[in-house]
Amino acid sequence: MIYLDKNENQYGPSEKCKEVIKNITLEMFNSYSRGYPKKILNRLEKEFGVPGDKILLGYGAEDILKQVFYFVGDHQKKSILMARQAWWYYNAIAEEVNAEIHYFDMVEKKHSFEYDAARAIELMEKHRPTIVLICSPNNPTGNSISRSDLKKIVKKSISTNSFIIIDEAYWGYDGTSNHSLKLVKDYNNVLVLRTFSKFYALAGLRIGFGFAGSQFTDLIKFNMRYLGFNSISEHLTFSALDSKKYYLKIAKLVNHDKKRYFKELTSVGLKVFKSEANFILVKIPEKYIEPLKTELQKEGVLVRFFDKGAVKNTARITIGTVEQNDIAIELIKAIIEGVDNNERWLE
Ligand SMILES: Cc1ncc(COP(=O)(O)O)c(C=O)c1O
Repeated sequence: MIYLDKNENQYGPSEKCKEVIKNITLEMFNSYSRGYPKKILNRLEKEFGVPGDKILLGYGAEDILKQVFYFVGDHQKKSILMARQAWWYYNAIAEEVNAEIHYFDMVEKKHSFEYDAARAIELMEKHRPTIVLICSPNNPTGNSISRSDLKKIVKKSISTNSFIIIDEAYWGYDGTSNHSLKLVKDYNNVLVLRTFSKFYALAGLRIGFGFAGSQFTDLIKFNMRYLGFNSISEHLTFSALDSKKYYLKIAKLVNHDKKRYFKELTSVGLKVFKSEANFILVKIPEKYIEPLKTELQKEGVLVRFFDKGAVKNTARITIGTVEQNDIAIELIKAIIEGVDNNERWLE
């Protein structure tokens, strides 16, 4: 099977991480991590320049998100403002905590989606949401929010008394700028989420982290654990952070292949959106959808189709390894050309 459906980093973790795995000792199983939480917080502080007492850790970014949704604001009347074209799971957690959800739309351009900061700000004024959620790069549309739009939204949040969550799960593919972390320093209601799952290729490890302003102090206290993560995970995160060169090389390959997908899939009539993440969103004319679904599944290439909602009739394709991408691109093109030529193997 070729898994291009969950935005995992198909190149896998770095050599340094593999060394950790090769050198696992029994002691790592029978004893607690000795340095938790100082060691990991210090390492993240050193890497990203945010003090350890502003760092959250979780069982993936997913876990931290859930903690935030449950923790902040009044339990009776929580509200969330987010893009309609954002990760479906935000809706699931918002519903769990009975939050009212307000949406603004991403603007669909010729080859990209864009954030509509003016509309988001209008809705902030109107609803004074408990949380404003900005996913950047956004899953599944792939676009990032511009620095100036982000700043405008954060500035507005002071008067609307909203918490700002910036989900940067796909950080690293479009450069490794830490400009959003400056907002954590300057505004105490901002939380930036990151993860070891995507850029660092450790999704199975389940470690996410976040940087939070002082309004999140209670959440940070709740979030910290006494005995911490397992020692193997801790070692792996250190090795991942020490392997920046390797991961930047992977990001370069991924970005190169995004351009290949763009060129090849556009040539057969699909609309491919520009992406700053490790996936692309592709709009598919209706006649191709069922053949693509059936044939890709049959050939063991999994991509994520969206049948309904704000990104209806699209598929999100994770950028895999060069070899996986070769297979996926050729297959998609052959299926589409097959439909166009009424080929019988598609019946
Ligand atoms: C936008 C976004 N945020 C967070 C996550 C969760 O990441 P983690 O593996 O760290 O829980 C995902 C996973 O796909 C995601 O797409």
